Order: sequence, then structure tokens, then C-alpha cells
Amino acid sequence: MTSVSNTASMDEQARQILIGNDRGGYTVPNGRVYPFQWNWDSAFVALGFATFDLDRAWREVETLFSAQWPDGFVPHIVFWQEDAGYYPGPSVWASGRTPPTSGITQPPVAASVVRRLWEEHDQAGYRERLAALFPKLLAWHRWFHQFRDPLKKGVVVAMHPWETGRDNSAEWDGPAAAVDVSQVGEYQRRDTGHLDQSMRPTKLDYDRFVAILQFGRATGWDSRTISERNPFRVADVGMTMILLRANRDLLDLARALGDTAAEREIQSWLDLAPRAGDYLWDERLQAYGSRDIITGQPCGALTSASFLNFYGDVRHAERDGIMLAHAERIAGKVGHMVPSLDPDDPRFEPLRYWRGPVWGVVNYLIGTGLEAAGQGDWAGQVRRDTRDLIAKTGFHEAFNPVNAAPTGGNDFSWTAAIWLAWAG
Ligand code: GLC
Repeated sequence: MTSVSNTASMDEQARQILIGNDRGGYTVPNGRVYPFQWNWDSAFVALGFATFDLDRAWREVETLFSAQWPDGFVPHIVFWQEDAGYYPGPSVWASGRTPPTSGITQPPVAASVVRRLWEEHDQAGYRERLAALFPKLLAWHRWFHQFRDPLKKGVVVAMHPWETGRDNSAEWDGPAAAVDVSQVGEYQRRDTGHLDQSMRPTKLDYDRFVAILQFGRATGWDSRTISERNPFRVADVGMTMILLRANRDLLDLARALGDTAAEREIQSWLDLAPRAGDYLWDERLQAYGSRDIITGQPCGALTSASFLNFYGDVRHAERDGIMLAHAERIAGKVGHMVPSLDPDDPRFEPLRYWRGPVWGVVNYLIGTGLEAAGQGDWAGQVRRDTRDLIAKTGFHEAFNPVNAAPTGGNDFSWTAAIWLAWAG
């Protein structure tokens, strides 16, 4: 248990991490490994800032959306300044935009964060800023429905493993194996210069990441061509559940602003929710999971994202019960919930990035969903486990679920933010 004075000093450390990683209007996830602005990191970071500097919290999201493309797309990285410590940098993406950005997006948590920023704090004082941000959020969600839901089931199709935020998840092994890596050429990774290789994606993973990037770049980052011909097209359970929840939050914001046309549009997206749930239920696995839309095959792995059905409010009495039984089984195998891959999966590696370690921000989403679904005990456990991991180990990128050892970078912005906003 963390004592009151420990908690106070942890809070102070968390604030210092955010302040130290602040580059003026945006926050780097980690100064060495990730020296730019990342999309979903910034959303979580805003929740952390909101606990001590509300204006700065709004700015984090506003800065991200200032890099939005005219068609509504919001990039996963914004390269506000040069930094040779990261690969692939702006010249590799060649987005042709100012500021330079990547050409793929990330899980759309921003609308849900903005709703929290607005509802839980100074509503009158921030109404204008909400009204200015709202059309940008709406345009991003519309872009998802236009270009990333080709099946018209409200299912988000990821065009790159990085887009899912879960880079080397076992879910991508099958779909990525079909990607031709023979023309990738030479390149120099930077991540393995900063961090232990055993905690990072493999060389084969990286070749595939680069090959898919090269395809998008060759199209001039054309959303339509990518949606029809990209070599990797996977309906991601994580992004789908996150967008469902974000649409509900955006709908509430539309109501607050009295924007009835937006309300109707968002409602038409939300009506697709039951189809999304059915499409992502994997009968063989008996769990929610992602599915390759090129082959039609389920990805066949139970991951932490599988538990986001509660967050997405995709409710189904029988499947909900099965998911909770999985939680029970997994909790019996690890010291801390929720591992990013089922420990009974032979590909489970407790240190290798999205193939085992626990991520605080994913736990926040899972815990929030369980709470909303009336599963207070599970929500409490997920939150306590997150707090324990951070209190024992520090503000690391992720944690070994078996023994709470740190993995990835330290002084990580989103871990600090989630401590302040939820876990601590
Ligand atoms: C890694 C993570 C991704 C995150 C980024 C910056 O690529 O997989 O989710 O946004 O690092 O922290």
C-alpha cells in the first residue's frame, strides 16, 4: 500500500515528468526514445495536465489538432522539430505537410478526453475552446467512417500496426506475414540504440512496419487508395471500441453545443455498434479480437484490447460473462492485470512490448469501461494493479505483468498522466 506522503511525492514526481517533457504546447512521450508529439499519448497527457494546469491540458489537444490535414485525418506523429534520435523521421514519411507528420493515425481517444476536460472542470470558461475544437474532432471521426470503415459495420480498419498503438501485438503476426519485405532496403533503427532489444519489436516486425509505410508513401498518402489496396488491412478491436466510446462522448458534446446536424450524423455511426461487436467476436477463441479483412480470418489472439468491449459499451450478456471468465483465469497467472497478451498464448513474452507487458493507459480504458458496465470489483482491481505497478517500479513505459519489473523507457509522460488522472 502507498502511504499518504508517498502518494504526495509520487504526484509531485508525475507533475515534474509532464513539465520536463513539455516542449511548449505539446509533450513528448519520452525525451530520448520518442522526441515528437504522438497522437493518443497527447490525449492521455491532457488528462494529467488537467489535474494541475487546465489551460495547458487544452493546449495539448489543440496543438495536436493544429496539425490536422484538410480531409480530417489527424496524424500519429507530428514532427514539430528535428531530432535524429528517432527512425522513421519526417523525411522517411514524406507527408509533404507543414508541420511534417507521419501518414497514419492512432486510436481516437481525443474526443473522450475533451469531454472529460470540459465536463469535469470549468464549463463556462472553456465553452469557446470546446466550440472551436468540436468541428475538428467531428471531422476526424468522419474521416474514420469515410476511409477506415470499408465494411460499413462501424469497424475501424487499421492500415499499419503502429496505427493501433499496439505495435508488435501477436494479433498482427498473421496479417503482417503477407506483407512483402523483399524491397525494404537498408535502414537504421534508433529504438534499439536507446533500449534493450529484448523489450522491442524484432527485425522482422520492423521490416514489415517499413514496407507498409513505403506503400502508403508511394500513394502520396492517399486515403482512398490506401483503404482499397494497402497490404495490411486489419479490423482492430482496440480502435473500434475506442471510436465507439469516442462517438458517444462526441454526441454528448454535440448536444451540449446544440449542434443537431452533428448529433444526427454521430448517431448514424453509433447505430452500427451491434454489427461491430458481432464482427469482432472470435468464435474459436471465444473472445473479442481483431480480424484481417483481406483474408476474413480472425487474428486469433486474446489481448488487453479484447477487454475494451466494456469501454465501447458493446454489451452482450453471454459474451460479457465469457470475457470476465477470461479475466479471472488471467488474473490467476500474473501478478498484475492486464497483460497485453494472454499468458496462456505460446507467444506471450512478459518483457517484449505489446506481447505481454501491462500498459497503464490501456488499463485506464479497461477500468473505465468495467466501471461503467457495473463491474466495480474488476474495475477496482485493474486500477489497484496499475497503482501498485507504478508505485513499486516508477513511471515506466510498461511493466512486466509477472514480477512488476520495468520495461521500455522511463519518465514516461502517459504513465505519469494516468497516475495523476486515475491510478494514483
Ligand atoms: C509506441 C507505442 C505507441 C505509443 C508510442 C509513443 O510506438 O506502441 O502506442 O503511442 O510508442 O509512446
